[in-house]
Amino acid sequence: MAKRDSMSIMNEYKNAPKKEEVVSERKLKVAIIGTGWIADAHINKYKEMSDVEVVALADLVPGKAEKFAEKWDITGARCYLSHKELLDAETELDAVSICTYNRTHAECTIYALNKGVNVLCEKPMSVTLEEALEMRRAEKKSGKILSIGFQPRMDPNMKKIKEIVESGVLGDIYYIQTGGGRRRGIPTPFGTTFIEDKTAGIGAMGDIGCYSLDMVLNAIGYPKPLTVSGYKSDFFGKDPKSYPWHPEYAEVFGVEDFAAGFIRLEGGIILDFRIAWAMNLDTPGDTIIMGKKGSLRIPSTECWNGSVGGPMRIYSEMAGSQVCTEIPIIQSPDLFYEKIRSFLDAVITGGKAPVPSEQIIINQAIIDGIIKSAELGKEIEVDIPEI
Ligand SMILES: NC(=O)c1ccc[n+]([C@@H]2O[C@H](COP(=O)([O-])OP(=O)(O)OC[C@H]3O[C@@H](n4cnc5c(N)ncnc54)[C@H](O)[C@@H]3O)[C@@H](O)[C@H]2O)c1
Repeated sequence: MAKRDSMSIMNEYKNAPKKEEVVSERKLKVAIIGTGWIADAHINKYKEMSDVEVVALADLVPGKAEKFAEKWDITGARCYLSHKELLDAETELDAVSICTYNRTHAECTIYALNKGVNVLCEKPMSVTLEEALEMRRAEKKSGKILSIGFQPRMDPNMKKIKEIVESGVLGDIYYIQTGGGRRRGIPTPFGTTFIEDKTAGIGAMGDIGCYSLDMVLNAIGYPKPLTVSGYKSDFFGKDPKSYPWHPEYAEVFGVEDFAAGFIRLEGGIILDFRIAWAMNLDTPGDTIIMGKKGSLRIPSTECWNGSVGGPMRIYSEMAGSQVCTEIPIIQSPDLFYEKIRSFLDAVITGGKAPVPSEQIIINQAIIDGIIKSAELGKEIEVDIPEI
């Protein structure tokens, strides 16, 4: 079966049906903090929603928020130079999109929640586990919601993985392999904010590894990690040849371009994980979920971005024969729209965050554990306090 490339996957997202949604009786007042690359995707979807008004923007770079307002024809939006300035001045916000680089997710999110504003924070949730815990504490104290921007969660193929596991057809799960990679794909489209420690803090794990972890952990109900043995490297990131047009980027590369982890989860499940922004290999392997009654294979993609790369297969035994069942690919709706709309629907109805912070803390704990274990050169124990 041919694998789907990233362009054909993107095309499938176009023109797909949208699910029925809740519409607010009054216009929701929304702000965007951080007006860089991903903010374009947020404003693009907010503009499609008749019950949303983007009233304020902030960016640390002088003039950047104003240029963004002009480009998107929302010149009525008030512009600020930081999250603090915006959140101190705007007292009637219903929600905010945090579209800043990883290092400022926690401070912007906590400040917004303390001001009583619902938050959609881009992924990864944070850089460290400690930050993620503080974000969750602020959410609980505020009584507002914090949803983390994992749009692959909205993909019906991802939902199918959870359905398969929960159906019991695989039996008890005991071993999972997940991850993904790109042969060459260190993201530097608009500069170095993805690769510098002071802005990104984490590299391939925060960009795409968190998607692989979410795909399998969400399917099995997000058990906590008990121990992590981690490895990380930066051989490609530190090589000037990786950036033919900007060899100087190698000098500032301060995160991991490859990471791997061996994680023992509650319930006796082993999680074997690897993720690469660059490697001398086509793929680090498909995702596999092994159970006592059956196993699921989820094909990887050439350029891992959190989508299923082809029909999934269940391997099991039936009437004494070894059989293989193919699960056809399901057409996806506009995932980015769904991610934002499901968050707003929860804001309107007072519902639960579609991608809840209490789950993503566990995702972050594994990433944090890999970094700490890799730096110490030995396995570490992970203890996530109840909040
Ligand atoms: N969900 C997705 O598919 C997806 C795709 C790309 C990026 N992302 C995530 O989005 C985030 C942003 O990525 P990007 O590529 O847009 O980065 P970017 O560097 O292009 O933009 C971030 C902007 O945030 C601003 N900023 C930082 N701290 C701020 C603060 N305290 N107040 C106001 N502005 C602040 C910066 O000046 C910058 O302009 C990252 O965490 C990334 O992982 C998600």
